[in-house]
Amino acid sequence: MSAWPRSLPPFLWGVATSSHQVEGQTHNDWTRWEAAGRVREGQRSGRGCDHWSRYQEDYQRFAALGINAYRFSVEWSRIEPEPGQWDREALATYRRMVQAMRSHGWVPCLTLHHFTLPLWLADRGGLFAPDAVERFTRYAATVVEHLGDLVDLYVTINEPMVWAVMGYAHGSWPPGRRSVWLAWRAANRLGHLHRHLYRTIKAARPTALVGWAHHYAVFFPYRETSWADRRDAAAVDWLFNRRFVAQIAPDFDFIGVNYYFRQWMHWRQGFRPITAKPGALTTDMGWEIYPAGLRHALRVLGRWQKPLVVKENGIAARDDRLRQRFLVDHLRELAAAQAEGLEVRGYFYWSALDNFEWAEGFHPRFGLFAVDYATQARTPRPSARLYRWLIEQNRDRFPIAVPDHVPDAEELPPLKAAVSPTNHPA
Ligand code: FCB
Repeated sequence: MSAWPRSLPPFLWGVATSSHQVEGQTHNDWTRWEAAGRVREGQRSGRGCDHWSRYQEDYQRFAALGINAYRFSVEWSRIEPEPGQWDREALATYRRMVQAMRSHGWVPCLTLHHFTLPLWLADRGGLFAPDAVERFTRYAATVVEHLGDLVDLYVTINEPMVWAVMGYAHGSWPPGRRSVWLAWRAANRLGHLHRHLYRTIKAARPTALVGWAHHYAVFFPYRETSWADRRDAAAVDWLFNRRFVAQIAPDFDFIGVNYYFRQWMHWRQGFRPITAKPGALTTDMGWEIYPAGLRHALRVLGRWQKPLVVKENGIAARDDRLRQRFLVDHLRELAAAQAEGLEVRGYFYWSALDNFEWAEGFHPRFGLFAVDYATQARTPRPSARLYRWLIEQNRDRFPIAVPDHVPDAEELPPLKAAVSPTNHPA
């Protein structure tokens, strides 16, 4: 086991969000993409969950879950709206947010980059702008200068491989390029950027834990009997899941694992994965539900001998019973991975709130709290009670355990509005 700092809880029980998906009223390369009609049904993130003005009340809700950690991201386009111009007010708001998180007793986990770029950088070439590394590191240094005394846990870049593939090969995210060669270069560039961000944060905060969030997609051969299918699955697995880690080692203190689904490789598909086999249990987005894949991902990434933290795991499901089952089944796999000796130090459910799911818009419902976008009302789903119950069973427990008998979420007591410790000093 590594030297997991004593200042952190032995296991982080959290929920996750990202700035563009919840804050509302952002102005970045994604809002331009939305304005160009590139999101399903022409939807735009717009007011989103209006979390920028409602974060305090939202935190009261999240606190009722009993979490001890919270993952969020800061929005570069707010902090540096024009090159070299730092918005003190935006930085002060993020500081108040982090203070509020801490007063709830949560470990804040700050993501520097979660898919969005300021327009001025996007217009200079984004990742490939000649001064991209310098701009990214200056931004990181500024964030750490303003918030670093309150934050000990950082994610540099969220899902670099997803960004590279969706933005540069698939073309369905900004900047909308369709070139495998460019995606390859983008991935390399992101590795390079990560290293700079890692070193920038560590130089300012040597004791902080810094990592990134790796989207681990499990690829299986469509037909186990086909040599070509097996070859493609192994190749894509290496390219998407393993190569990036090797590229940035040893510049990370933990590995953040985002796990959602399994995909299938059939050699006739020309390296395009099949999202689910006919008849498979899927989410509302058609993603195949495969809990054992989480343990698989943890085993593979565990070879690096660094602490593992599940930074995202969740499901788009209007049927909350599916979410309840998803949560329990994945946590069982996490516990089993720990029982095998893997050092898994946290689990962040994606997401606390329903939110803006990129090119899919507002349709997918990932939240423990449902959001009514017309009124901005939030309603806890039964799975929120179940998550609280699972956390309660594990108070001060490491490794974690999921009891054999899990109660019906509907029968658990409703969530109580939590009272912030700030208002009630002991
Ligand atoms: C992940 C993203 C996150 C969210 C979930 C569903 O790939 O990091 O922002 O969209 O998927």
